[in-house]
Amino acid sequence: MPASPAGRLDVSFASLKDDTEEVVGLLAVDGPEFGATGKAMDESGDGILSRAAKAAEFKGKAKSSAEILAPAGIAASRLILVGGGDAEKAEENDWVMAGGAALAKLDTHKAKSASLVVEVAGESRLAQHEIAAAMALGAYLRSYKFEKYQTKKKEDNEDEPKPNGLKKLVVHCLDPKKAEKAFERQKAIGDGVMLARDLVNEPANILGPVEFAERAQALEKVGIEVEVLDAKDLKKLKMGALLAVAQGSPRPARVVVMHWNGGKKNHSPVAFVGKGVVFDTGGISIKPAAGMEDMKGDMGGAACVVGLMHVLAARKAKVNAVGIIGCVENMPSGEATRPGDIVTSMSGQTIEVLNTDAEGRLVLSDIMWYVQERYKPKMMIDLATLTGAIMVALGKNFAGLFCNNDDLATSILEASKVTDEKAWRMPLDKSFHKMIDSKNADVKNLGGRWGGACTAAAFLERFVKDKETPWAHIDLAGTAMDAPRNDINQSWGSGWGVRLLDRLVAEKYEG
Ligand code: BES
Ligand code: MN
Ligand code: ZN
Repeated sequence: MPASPAGRLDVSFASLKDDTEEVVGLLAVDGPEFGATGKAMDESGDGILSRAAKAAEFKGKAKSSAEILAPAGIAASRLILVGGGDAEKAEENDWVMAGGAALAKLDTHKAKSASLVVEVAGESRLAQHEIAAAMALGAYLRSYKFEKYQTKKKEDNEDEPKPNGLKKLVVHCLDPKKAEKAFERQKAIGDGVMLARDLVNEPANILGPVEFAERAQALEKVGIEVEVLDAKDLKKLKMGALLAVAQGSPRPARVVVMHWNGGKKNHSPVAFVGKGVVFDTGGISIKPAAGMEDMKGDMGGAACVVGLMHVLAARKAKVNAVGIIGCVENMPSGEATRPGDIVTSMSGQTIEVLNTDAEGRLVLSDIMWYVQERYKPKMMIDLATLTGAIMVALGKNFAGLFCNNDDLATSILEASKVTDEKAWRMPLDKSFHKMIDSKNADVKNLGGRWGGACTAAAFLERFVKDKETPWAHIDLAGTAMDAPRNDINQSWGSGWGVRLLDRLVAEKYEG
């Protein structure tokens, strides 16, 4: 298996008989029930596991744990019982979550390595090796940290290791060969999610449109074909809406097109479109100062697309997919677009820009049009941190889903349930279109006071070229950044949507 990128947890698999590291997590399911390995440990330690579990009221419930220090008769110096819950009911994502929770317990001290013993007693929905691989993914995701700019913390002194510095996890299970194989796919997913997190977390001085395009271009090494369109190309393509956003910044726009051709030749692709505003000041309609720093994450949609393309390539998905991202910076300047300006989009539709802070829809309108014209995709999903209004409506745990096709909407919501990346369907309706009719142009980029997420979606709908094309718009303003942390994500940039879309592709568009 290829080594993990620098700084990422090194996950490997070993048999149940292999020697463990000093720190050991031992999975127990409801009861607590231990597997044969746990039972043997309990015996060699004179019943210490059962006694400790009882004393700590540890019953093997999901998310629970109990720690035993320096147990006599057992090789480990710290033995942590980690709960797996009801194995007969647990689905894949439950094990992923359990793996994340386990890693958090294993990584509280100064140890650099730990073992996790995954042996499920009794019946389970998933095979043992699948459970091991799922838990490994959870641990891998949980271990993610964005600390490249913490120079003091980084001084890694071998003699004085820091707490929370776990580098290596060995997962012990029944069939490590099979688990390792199963983990290949999980690791591809984990790397895609963490790539998206990295991009969202990166500050905008480092990640401008050009640099973002370069990061996307790096996907060539996993087999993605990448094309970068520069400002000259975009002008030639008449992407007047996207360029109207970019023109206020000295940093030029880039549009990146990523191809993964793992499906049958001449099968039309599925398309993923991402808003990549590397920083959103609001432009001339400038945002208030408080919280503006969060707008470094206004490329969460594009990050999700890049992360997804990574997954599809790394796991060699049997699908043709095209990802397209519009990378721009929304700045106020003497050259910036003004409120009241009318611009012509690539589609030919004219747009009255009433608020330069409603820039995401301008960017998307052109790249959506381009990807449809060029590839005639069989389905198109755009992802964007598009509106504050979606957070007012749904909070920060749910993304907003707008979709012109019930079948696609159902599939997205099903995938969302599987990976527990929550989404809620929102309306597309004529009435919202009325609100964005312009007196002076074909459409205006502002819908008025109410239903801001819905008028934004209606705006995008005008750029769905063929109304028969299944299209979904996902507003992840709430979920892409600073969403409630959980067992598998402690990062500001969440990587929301990568797992969901990977699942959607696997379930609906492969084979
Ligand atoms: N990038 C913002 C939306 C956003 C806000 C994302 C907060 C994440 C957190 C978007 O470009 C924007 O500014 N939208 C405006 C639209 C309005 C001017 C119609 C908004 O939501 O206020
Ligand atoms: Mn904005
Ligand atoms: Zn924005």
